[in-house]
Amino acid sequence: MSESTNHSFEEVQNIAVIGAGYVGLVSGACFASFGFKVDLVEVNATKLAALRRGEVPIYEPGLEGILEDASADGNIRFHASSKELFAVANPEVVFIAVGTPENPDGSCNLDYVFQAAKDAVEASKEDVVLVLKSTVPVGTAQKVKDLIRELAPKHKVAVVNNPEFLKEGSAIADFRRPERVVIGGTEAWALERVKSLYRSLLHSGHALFVTDHETAELSKLSANLMLASRISLINQVSRLATAYGADVKQVEAVLRSDSRIGSKYLYAGLGYGGSCFPKDVKDFIHICKEKGVDASMAETVHSFNESQKLFFVDDLKKSFPKPAETTVALLGVAFKPDTDDIRESPALVLTKVLREAGYKLRAYDPKAIENYKTWMVDEGIQGVECVDSAKVALDGADVCVLVTEWQEFQRLSLGGLSRLFKGKKLYDGKNVFNPTQVKSWGMDYMGVGR
Ligand code: NAD
Ligand code: UGA
Repeated sequence: MSESTNHSFEEVQNIAVIGAGYVGLVSGACFASFGFKVDLVEVNATKLAALRRGEVPIYEPGLEGILEDASADGNIRFHASSKELFAVANPEVVFIAVGTPENPDGSCNLDYVFQAAKDAVEASKEDVVLVLKSTVPVGTAQKVKDLIRELAPKHKVAVVNNPEFLKEGSAIADFRRPERVVIGGTEAWALERVKSLYRSLLHSGHALFVTDHETAELSKLSANLMLASRISLINQVSRLATAYGADVKQVEAVLRSDSRIGSKYLYAGLGYGGSCFPKDVKDFIHICKEKGVDASMAETVHSFNESQKLFFVDDLKKSFPKPAETTVALLGVAFKPDTDDIRESPALVLTKVLREAGYKLRAYDPKAIENYKTWMVDEGIQGVECVDSAKVALDGADVCVLVTEWQEFQRLSLGGLSRLFKGKKLYDGKNVFNPTQVKSWGMDYMGVGR
């Protein structure tokens, strides 16, 4: 592996990105803003139609403006298939940014990756580099290479890993100012092509790691496992803090002051959600087992997280034993603020468990409520009222569970809150309120570990 800041570059002008989701659309838009000509492929007809109308089908702060500028500059186009794309463009690099969801056994479903790779290889006419930006199990690049060998294209097709580390909600800044760029592969010409795309970033001193395929793949999965582990560990601390009456927020502050521990990914809550930590930890476990490697560390990170999502449920059931007469307001259903993504959000588990127990639910989220409604239809869940503001959600409710720490919830005035909510119980799933102040306004309070 080499970590270098001294680079030689081959010029690339045309890029394709397959999959216009959170990663593909952000990557495509950012590359277009660097001046590359970007062609995106999206198979979902609804998303594609929205993109062609100039609408952004996901909520990601800052993305709309970048896409508008890229379209105005003629730097970005959208296509329904690789065939359609290669009929009008000749990209030197094709990023695969399609979903890699989990299978029922926890393994990673690579069907979309293989399909995207196959379509791109069959449609391409000249030497091209296929870049795996999707998060994939170790060994995937080798499988894609085997697939290409079977397809026997007449021109050169190389495979390179370039895992993505962006976070939803701050995806643009993360993409434009990455702490590191990881590129994995074996063919020098292909590695040089991919490196050249990051030229402007690398010149600003960001770290570049060039590795073999397997190391790049393992680095990505390990980064997510490491961050997920920190969250499960602080959540373990939060349970003991509850048992002894200690304050986990203060413990967090003490831990953060230790430079060996570091300050980030150390807040207790209702467990990590999102489309990646849960799935990637399970994938890590799965590939350990495939090789006969003890996966017990990662298994505990995962199982602890699952139960953390239910942190408030026992207390809620004990404090409010008549579900049919109890209305629970859910503040936030997105898995984190500044996104409309609800995948693996603790709100989904709470919705299921509380509805099964017969509680009445009222939910509000500034951006994710439509996705939540769709999820409920898919799951056959009824009896949840979705409302347009936190105030409406709280009015007349008996219990409030804050699931997502949107700024607008953190700015709620406790005086205003107490007028709607006096004598009721506030469950603070992200420890954003001050318990003493909440109680001084006549509301009951329970946080996670305080
Ligand atoms: P997503 O579901 O938002 O987007 C994937 C898109 O690919 C969808 O719009 C889907 O319709 C499209 N697609 C599927 N097959 C296709 C095909 N053959 N051709 C064209 N389009 C196709 O997923 P995402 O959140 O962007 O994640 C994509 C990958 O990136 C995953 O492997 C994920 O683990 C990884 N990742 C995600 C994030 C994140 O924050 N979301 C961050 C880093 C890495
Ligand atoms: C995460 C990683 O942070 C990204 O680096 C990675 O690229 C991405 O997964 C991925 O592979 O998809 P993301 O899922 O968008 O990004 O969001 P995070 O901000 O990391 O939060 C994930 C979850 O952890 C959220 O539910 C959040 O509430 C929770 N979390 C985070 C905590 O409970 N405590 C913390 O201290 C930090």
